[in-house]
Amino acid sequence: MEQSAWARMSTEDPGHSAAYVERFRRLAAQGMDLAGEARLVDAMLPRGSRVLDAGCGPGRVGGWLAGAGHTVVGVDGDPVLIAAAEADHPGPRWLVGDLAELDLPAAGIPEPFDAVVCAGNVMTFLAPSTRGEVLRRLRTHLAPGGRAAIGFGAGRGYPFEDFLDDARGAGLSPDVLLSTWDLRPYAPGADFLVAVLSRS
Ligand SMILES: C[S@@+](CC[C@H](N)C(=O)[O-])C[C@H]1O[C@@H](n2cnc3c(N)ncnc32)[C@H](O)[C@@H]1O
Repeated sequence: MEQSAWARMSTEDPGHSAAYVERFRRLAAQGMDLAGEARLVDAMLPRGSRVLDAGCGPGRVGGWLAGAGHTVVGVDGDPVLIAAAEADHPGPRWLVGDLAELDLPAAGIPEPFDAVVCAGNVMTFLAPSTRGEVLRRLRTHLAPGGRAAIGFGAGRGYPFEDFLDDARGAGLSPDVLLSTWDLRPYAPGADFLVAVLSRS
């Protein structure tokens, strides 16, 4: 399987993952608001929902959602980031795994999810050849009526139109397109896309 851009960066710079963890620890210590994505997802859900944090990194989003009372499973391909998530955000189930091979029932987690959140440009770090497969697997892990919130920036090698085509091909219909996690509408030329998609 083609290697993700994140894995390649970590191979080229062994300190890359630790630096990412420290950057977000520093921002949290400075009191920065790091929960914008989580608040949007929380607004989509009844209390006590099941959330999959896809490409969870050090647990910034899933940790907040667990604190809001949801049952969270986070999956990320980078073991350094998963170790940080376990240390900084105890509570959710944090798993090392490649989203292109995501199969949580096989890992003993059979219940589907009310929401999938994929924040922090994860989509643009995927190996391009795995994008469709990742989207199909995210869809498979959604409960009927479940929704995915996926956000990433423009100019990172994954044009928004291609992403929306891939999402439709994977059985995910765009319900709402935004240009920010704080609900500003999407318009052509926007430098960011937040797509809320449902199982079609
Ligand atoms: C910029 S980080 C964002 C982390 C987290 N979502 C956040 O917002 O803090 C991008 C993440 O995507 C993950 N990632 C990229 N490709 C992946 C894949 N194929 N499977 C699992 N995780 C992947 C990386 O390991 C990395 O943690």
